Amino acid sequence: MKQRILFVCLGNICRSPAAEAMLRVLVDREGLGDRVEIDSAGTYGGHSGERSDPRMRRAAEARGIAMTHRARQVREEDFERFDMVIAMDDNNYENLFRLAPDRAAQQKIYRFREFLRNHPDWSYIPDPYYEGHEGFELVLDLLEDGCSVLLEQIKGN
Ligand code: 4NP
Repeated sequence: MKQRILFVCLGNICRSPAAEAMLRVLVDREGLGDRVEIDSAGTYGGHSGERSDPRMRRAAEARGIAMTHRARQVREEDFERFDMVIAMDDNNYENLFRLAPDRAAQQKIYRFREFLRNHPDWSYIPDPYYEGHEGFELVLDLLEDGCSVLLEQIKGN
């Protein structure tokens, strides 16, 4: 059965589209592209329709990850479509929890930190929007860690 994963951050122009692109690269590399559907969205709709932040795209491209996503706001129907809705930080998590229409939907919400293996000091993916270059590199380091764990779970299914 196809597994459907939605990554969610605030603006959907930095963290969650990078997570989407990174997991897709890992999944495609293993030839598992037809087993998974991956998308991303933001709890805030103010950037809807925009391409990802150029600083995030540049940092991702330097690691061989092309980001082509256009931002969109998360919506209630996403809880029907996706099996896992993965929040980048606690604020995103709480907003998703409020949006979830019922208990079954709430049980689909995860925190990205649950998939981190090599970064015990991080309990969320920090918002890089107001940060310099290191903020984006840190986000990608954390995403690489968690997406590798997610890939293992996908392979195990
Ligand atoms: P993201 O970063 O949630 O990782 O996409 C942000 C993008 C935009 C804003 C905040 C965070 N903003 O306030 O517009």
